[in-house]
Amino acid sequence: MIISKIPVLSKIPKAAVDEPVIYLIAPHFDLSQLSMTKPETAYAKSCIDNEDKLISVNSYYKWIYIVVVSEHNDKATLYETMRNQAFELCQQVIKNKFTCVNIVDLYSEEGIAAAFAEGLILSAYKFNKYFGDKDKKEISLTTVHVVSNKLTDMDVEKLNIVCSSVYVARDIVNEPLSHLNAHKLAVTIQEVGKAAGFEVEVFDKQRIEALRMGGLLAVNRGSVDPPSFSIMTYKPANAINEKPYVIVGKGIVFDTGGLSLKPTQGSMDSMKSDKAGAAAAVGIMYAIAKAALPLYVIGLVPATDNRPGENAYAPQDIITMYDGTTVEVLNTDAEGRMILADALAYANKYNPELVIDLATLTGAAVVAVGTIAIAAMGNNKEAISELHISGMQTRERIVELPLWEEYGEQIKSDFADIKNVGGRWAGSITAGKFLEHFTNYPWVHLDIAGTAYLDSSDKYRGKAGTGSGVRLLFDFFTRKCAE
Ligand code: BES
Ligand code: ZN
Ligand code: ZN
Repeated sequence: MIISKIPVLSKIPKAAVDEPVIYLIAPHFDLSQLSMTKPETAYAKSCIDNEDKLISVNSYYKWIYIVVVSEHNDKATLYETMRNQAFELCQQVIKNKFTCVNIVDLYSEEGIAAAFAEGLILSAYKFNKYFGDKDKKEISLTTVHVVSNKLTDMDVEKLNIVCSSVYVARDIVNEPLSHLNAHKLAVTIQEVGKAAGFEVEVFDKQRIEALRMGGLLAVNRGSVDPPSFSIMTYKPANAINEKPYVIVGKGIVFDTGGLSLKPTQGSMDSMKSDKAGAAAAVGIMYAIAKAALPLYVIGLVPATDNRPGENAYAPQDIITMYDGTTVEVLNTDAEGRMILADALAYANKYNPELVIDLATLTGAAVVAVGTIAIAAMGNNKEAISELHISGMQTRERIVELPLWEEYGEQIKSDFADIKNVGGRWAGSITAGKFLEHFTNYPWVHLDIAGTAYLDSSDKYRGKAGTGSGVRLLFDFFTRKCAE
């Protein structure tokens, strides 16, 4: 199993005396209530007067941290501040090699301790399995204890699930092609299914050929490894939906661009991340099954690498897709839409309630909304507005781009039903228009090209794979259960 160990969160009645303690307090909290010496209290007070938000007191027998919770009218912003403060604190935890910390919630308002614990656990993630040096491999934080009367056992369980699902997604994104080709991705999905309790069926190349998934096969032609198509099914007896929710994830295990080769620097050299949509789909399935949400959900992951091998698909090729549509390929680097189109057309057989696809689909999405937001498109206003709410809550915010008819002009082809690239402008939207062609059910497309993989660290989202989409969709599906 490729999944990293995650620090375990649990609720305890009282912090252990000899372990590091993190107090969460309001700005005007009476510091004399904390078990500190007079000079320590005076020091902490002077820091707070100085508007410091994170104070560390190296008491003679243990470490004490004080986190001052800021005042915010908007809860979602306050929670995000807590996650970010937890990141700052995690830097200290790592530096001091603490294996266990105690969060003592003296602020005592709903959601505060939970957001802080979430930020701390997400900040503690490291992808260090390939270091030879044992020191670098060691995970420092293994246990997070919380003392809080506002944190329920359910909150603890949910947080453990959400954070481990993000870890699952990050691990899949961070694994390089040398260790995770399309076949190994399918094997990993089977392992995750076993661990979480959902069914997995994997189609091999022969089956994919028999199904005539022309898009997936075309992209795979330049590769030495066969493609895979994984189907994850979670169908609990108490499911509240008859028609399934289907999650589709782009599983390009590495994107060289194919014959339309990418330049290396700043372009190809982060493309192990092109399976982040697949990673998110697996992470979400893991979360839903672990949390035993009463939902019938299916996950589809078409997977291959995109390479310029000797039989590679070429510009001007015409490909017949799974649903019979003919596609003129004008850029082999627009491969994500080729494999997603087959998966989206395949999703139709489930008569789905809603299909959500996640994909690192276009560089244009990064240009449009940067690394802090997801570009969303689709034909279902209700789902998009619900995702907007979940996005604000989890800080995995979405920005909707339109799929107006005029944009469709750009993918008209002289020789086939459609072509796989549009013109110079609105690249994320023309990609969305391409996908739309293969959908005839309620559908939302999430282009996570900007958020899925970070070249430099961004607080608790970390560096490299972020697990983008997992917390967003888990919130979205949790709300579905409460409707
Ligand atoms: N995987 C890339 C998109 C991407 C770019 C993801 C940057 C993350 C960061 C995708 O397959 C691709 O190459 N798209 C092309 C499409 C173009 C050829 C129409 C792009 O965005 O340049
Ligand atoms: Zn590409
Ligand atoms: Zn790609």
